[in-house]
Parts: sequence; C-alpha cells; structure tokens
Amino acid sequence: MNSKRKNTQLETQKGMLEIKSLTKSFQSGSGALRIILDELSLSVQDGESVAIVGPSGSGKTTLLNMLGALDRPDSGDVLLNGESVFSKNEKRLAEFRNQSIGFVFQLHHLLPQLTLIENILLPVLAQQSAVDSTSRKRAEELILKLSIAELQNQKPGQLSGGECQRTAVARALINQPKILLADEPTGALDQQSSNQLADLLLQLNREERTSLIVVTHSMNLASKMDKIYQLENGKLQLTKA
Ligand SMILES: Nc1ncnc2c1ncn2[C@@H]1O[C@H](COP(=O)(O)OP(=O)(O)O)[C@@H](O)[C@H]1O
Ligand SMILES: [Mg+2]
Repeated sequence: MNSKRKNTQLETQKGMLEIKSLTKSFQSGSGALRIILDELSLSVQDGESVAIVGPSGSGKTTLLNMLGALDRPDSGDVLLNGESVFSKNEKRLAEFRNQSIGFVFQLHHLLPQLTLIENILLPVLAQQSAVDSTSRKRAEELILKLSIAELQNQKPGQLSGGECQRTAVARALINQPKILLADEPTGALDQQSSNQLADLLLQLNREERTSLIVVTHSMNLASKMDKIYQLENGKLQLTKA
C-alpha cells in the first residue's frame, strides 16, 4: 500500500460517522426544486453527543432520515467507520438500520397491543425468529437503567408519555447501535419528563459509548450535548464546541 492511499484511509477514520457533502432537494408546491441540504458535511466521533437546532422547516428531520438511511440523498454519502452507507443494497441497508442505528421519534410509535417489554424486543425479531437469552438480558439491563422495570408487562395505553418515550429509547438501544438518532424526543413531554429523558439520554450516551445525535428545540437538552450545530440554509454551523 503506498503512503498516499494510507493517508486517505486515515482521514476516513477521523470520525466514526462522516457525513460527506449531502445534498437533498424537494419539489415545492409550485413545482420548483428547493434545496434542503446543501453539500452538508459533519464528522461525529465515537461516543460524541451532538445537538442539531434550527428553525422549523430547515431540514433537521430530512437530515436525520438520511443518517438513519430512511431516505436517500440526491448526492453525497454517509460513512460509518469508513464504510459507505448508500452504496449498500436494500438488504444490507435494512440490516444497517436494524443493527447500527437506533431511532427515537417525537411520538413514541409503540405498538399498543404489545407490552412494554415486547415492544423493546421487537427489533430483535426483525433479524431472528426468537428472542435469545442475550437479548433478553440486554432488555432487562435497559429497563433497569431507564427505571421502567416494574412496568414491563403493561401496555403503552397504561403508561405516561415519559414512560412511553423511555420505552422507545430502550427499543432503539436493544441491538446496541453505534448511533442513537433522536428527532425532538422531548417535544411532546412535560418539563419534568423532558428533563428526566434528557438526563437519561446523556447517561446512556456515556455508559454505552453510543454516539448521540439529537434534533431539539429544547435549549436545556441541547446545552447538555458536547456540541451544538445550527442548521440553516442547508448547512450546519457549529455554535457550541
Ligand atoms: N418528502 C417530502 N416531500 C416534499 N417536501 C418535503 C418532504 N420532506 C420534507 N419536505 C420539506 O423540506 C423542508 C424541511 O423539512 P423537515 O426536514 O421536516 O424540517 P424540520 O425537521 O427542520 O422542521 C420543509 O419545507 C418540508 O416541507
Ligand atoms: Mg422535524
């Protein structure tokens, strides 16, 4: 291997997650093309916590959807540990979503007919036919950390918003993803539940070394992260390092 090639490889290992020149446009109502993400780049280190803030409609959800491979960019790529996400075929992309990424949305999206523990174990069943003892142990560890152990046989309809959201966090972490993506995770919670969830997300980020990327309007949550980026005009500006 020549030294030039070696250098390039070292560079790609700089951040665990490398977002490279992502561009995404949508057609507006009038038919004009609107650029939402404009050659946006970002590097996220192993275990780092990052907040993304910005006005409504600035493209925060669009960006998270790309990072979670829920949508494809027009151009650019995302590299996880040097490996290109968007050159994967559909099967590998589904595996990537299931194994490497955890997603928490503003609304918990738990299945109402399943118990809390069954909801948490659902992503395990996407890849295998039965829950193994390692996954069961992992689920038990998570419900203890998230203080929902005593609720494990309840259904979502019997739980508070904060308890449902903590369940959604456990579900996102069950497969030990490298990155946890959260899109306004405290947006539908009252102040107390919101603060509790913010502290838990940070605690899990430290204990599990899972990188955390959170889109939020809450300055309380954003200020707890290592870095804050503002998304504006399709690009990210670092506002706190
Ligand atoms: N699938 C889509 N089709 C067309 N326009 C979209 C689509 N998704 C998002 N948009 C537009 O892109 C812009 C950014 O949306 P979004 O990423 O949801 O912003 P944010 O999460 O920052 O509020 C908005 O103007 C929205 O209407
Ligand atoms: Mg959004």
